[in-house]
Amino acid sequence: MSTSSSSAAERDFKREFLKIFIIVFVVLLICFSIYFVNHQENNKYILKTLEINGSVEEGNALFKINCVGCHGITARGLVGPDLHSITQRLNDKEIIKQVTGGLTPPMPSFEIDPVNMSNLLKFLHSLE
Ligand code: HEC
Repeated sequence: MSTSSSSAAERDFKREFLKIFIIVFVVLLICFSIYFVNHQENNKYILKTLEINGSVEEGNALFKINCVGCHGITARGLVGPDLHSITQRLNDKEIIKQVTGGLTPPMPSFEIDPVNMSNLLKFLHSLE
């Protein structure tokens, strides 16, 4: 009698455990898919940017509008660091992530299309 009730409790416990396990699994799966899709889109953005041959003049104009407040009119640095020879320290992918990612506050993330991102990259390369 007592063994059959304990095995019923055990079965209940196993069922509960399985339920929780499945819920956790599904949640993880959803998180992973969101991460994966985001990652793919970021990669697509980076690849697209790197395919384009940007213009230094356009990039210079963009820099004057968006970046000089922190990096200085000659990009020698103010609040943000000096950006001369930045392209020797960071590769293009890292610079794109820096500008679009908002990884290092107070520097904001910029929503910028691949053409303009490529222009900015060209400009930063011209500072070497
Ligand atoms: C609100 C101020 C601010 C603005 C605007 C800003 N930045 Fe920055 N930026 C920073 C700060 C601060 C850092 C240093 C972050 C850190 O590494 O701690 C930085 C870092 C960087 C770096 C990495 C430098 C390194 O040595 O690792 C790059 C590249 C950069 N910024 C490019 C840009 C570009 C391009 C723009 C314009 C589209 C821009 N930033 C606009 C503040 C700013």
